[in-house]
Amino acid sequence: MVDGSDRSISLAVALLRAGEVVAVPTETVYGLAADASNPEAVLRVFAAKGRPGDHPLIVHLGRGANLADWARHIPDQASRLAEAFWPGPLTMVLDRHPSVLDAVTGGQDTVALRIPSHPVIQRILQDLGGGGLAAPSANRFGHVSPTTARHVCDGLADSVGLVVDGGPCEVGVESTIVAFEADEVVILRPGGVAPEAIESVIGRQVSTGAAGVVRAPGMLASHYAPATPLELCSADEAAPRASKLVSLGKRVGVLSLGRTDVPGAAATWDAGGDMAGFARSLYHFMRQADAEALDVLVVALPPVEGLGLAVQDRLRRAAHRPVSPDRYDHDH
Ligand code: TXA
Ligand code: MG
Repeated sequence: MVDGSDRSISLAVALLRAGEVVAVPTETVYGLAADASNPEAVLRVFAAKGRPGDHPLIVHLGRGANLADWARHIPDQASRLAEAFWPGPLTMVLDRHPSVLDAVTGGQDTVALRIPSHPVIQRILQDLGGGGLAAPSANRFGHVSPTTARHVCDGLADSVGLVVDGGPCEVGVESTIVAFEADEVVILRPGGVAPEAIESVIGRQVSTGAAGVVRAPGMLASHYAPATPLELCSADEAAPRASKLVSLGKRVGVLSLGRTDVPGAAATWDAGGDMAGFARSLYHFMRQADAEALDVLVVALPPVEGLGLAVQDRLRRAAHRPVSPDRYDHDH
């Protein structure tokens, strides 16, 4: 692991040019980056993650990149969203330019593009002198995304040559992915840009896509999962439910907006003062639940406003697992 100093950035750039894989910070989560124009380098990303090869990657671009090098057609609404949210936690799925590698798009005729705002990845992109970095989140497939360099090392130490530390990620959940259909904007994955913010830019409602169709692997029902079972409750139900589990002798954690006092609980965590705070700390607390060897983490769901939609989405996916009820609870 290295810091974000000039020397580290030069080292990262040299490795990327040589076709190696480097873990880099973005404002959402850490990414596992490879030169998007080098097919062998891109294949190394899939190998390091243990990810199926037909899952497409997001291409990260430098500020001021020419989108026409990557996409055949840029809808009006895409230009407006780029203007409003780039650099930042928004990914747009566009018709791919013929020169974009199949290894990057999973053979689809679209490509996912994002201009991230984190200064370290931006420096690396500028120093590379154009081009793009294909980068999924820097975790093993199906695990919780890393929001610190330490998380990356914990999960991928053996398969990544260099991890550049850019501090804890400010947004903390992945980017919002949008696609354009006719004159509609469709959210394929909720994330760091709130749907309300997108709606205010395009002046109409966004759609959350066709239910039940897996358009992006991040949309598989079970994903982003810690080992600890999660129980999702309304804000009112969290304390009584946690108390009940404590009375059954369980090692219980409680995560809520504002701390919920539960006598006998092993941990009661404040998820942050607001929805952005919840998003920023969510993956940290999922990891903490495992580190503290909790039997169950009871989570008070935040409202689905703003980043609350992305937080609820990740929580539901993390909780969606066939957990044997008697692993932590005997009363149902
Ligand atoms: O915030 C983020 O988006 C982070 C950081 C590193 O940028 N990246 C990230 O990448 O979350 P990953 O690979 O873990 O998730 C990318 C998602 C996947 O669900 C993938 O299926 C979807 O983007 N995706 C990529 N290309 C696509 C395409 N052409 N059409 C539809 N979905 C696509
Ligand atoms: Mg991921």
